[in-house]
Amino acid sequence: MARKILIIGACGQIGTELTMKLREMHGNENVVASDIREGSRELMQSGPFEILNATDEPHIREIVEKYDIREVYLMAAMLSATAEKAPMKAWDLNMDSLFHILKLGREGMLDKIFWPSSIAVFGPSTPKEGTPQTTIMEPTTVYGISKQTGERWCEYFHRKFGVDVRSIRYPGIISYKTLPGGGTTDYAIEIFHEALKNSEYTSFLAKDAALPMMYMDDAIKATIDIMEAPAEKIKVRSSYNLAAISFTPEILAEEIKKHIEDFKISYEPDFRQSIAESWPSSIDDSAAREDWGWEHEFDLEKMTEEMLKGVQESLKENA
Ligand SMILES: NC(=O)c1ccc[n+]([C@@H]2O[C@H](COP(=O)([O-])OP(=O)(O)OC[C@H]3O[C@@H](n4cnc5c(N)ncnc54)[C@H](O)[C@@H]3O)[C@@H](O)[C@H]2O)c1
Repeated sequence: MARKILIIGACGQIGTELTMKLREMHGNENVVASDIREGSRELMQSGPFEILNATDEPHIREIVEKYDIREVYLMAAMLSATAEKAPMKAWDLNMDSLFHILKLGREGMLDKIFWPSSIAVFGPSTPKEGTPQTTIMEPTTVYGISKQTGERWCEYFHRKFGVDVRSIRYPGIISYKTLPGGGTTDYAIEIFHEALKNSEYTSFLAKDAALPMMYMDDAIKATIDIMEAPAEKIKVRSSYNLAAISFTPEILAEEIKKHIEDFKISYEPDFRQSIAESWPSSIDDSAAREDWGWEHEFDLEKMTEEMLKGVQESLKENA
């Protein structure tokens, strides 16, 4: 029998591409997309869609029962930069939505749950280079605090009630199909749009702000890989470190200059710089590589080529 899957927060940067990939794998009718707003035409037209608020527990239950859902990907959240502007709202959304889904898992209504964490779980006291899987975690943003707390609850629900919840700490995700939702790494997407439109970009992070990043295709692959792995391979039930590339705005600008010679970058760091400073520069993801065979495909060069091609096409379509 086909696996029925629900994606909550399906219209966001990651949710949109994840939904399309899952529909390709499992059949359009078996993958229900949901969000508090409508998404891209492709997403809305390719399979079932429901307007669903991730904090509305009775409605989530109704949808799970209506479609006989056995697997949930909970992608709805308020991201780092936006959350600093509305801390209590961010806390309520990020925590309540997770509790609603974990409780459904505890009741045996779901077989598997995916919930993403983030490199924001780390803080200024964490080792910055090659950040280990298990280390000091003292996040300073409300987003990071909500993700770290979420990780503890995931592990607790697994240990105590056997809930099969799986999680990865996404680094900054770079893509061109859906715009990002207000994170600290969004500069690494904006820069491509501005490079192609105006040949210049003013970065809101300083030139030497090194952060762990990943191209969207790799993030989707990691998400599918961890969910497809046999349960006994998932040894970390809080959340796995995950890494691909690490670079600064200056390094990325140099890479873009190889394609757009007259591209110019300037720097006007804002409040997001202090968030970036509290996060790791690079991540040790050997646990994910050993436990469930994680491998990334996109390096800086390949990611830059794909982004320039993709953003160029989307600019032409919208012209
Ligand atoms: N994009 C990144 O670089 C990144 C990095 C680390 C972790 N993550 C995590 O991955 C997940 C998805 O991130 P994203 O970049 O796609 O975010 P996004 O902001 O692009 O998308 C989030 C989606 O959730 C929806 N949403 C907001 N409030 C909702 C509610 N109450 N009910 C239902 N839907 C609601 C929004 O409409 C949006 O479509 C989040 O948990 C985020 O914390 C993302």
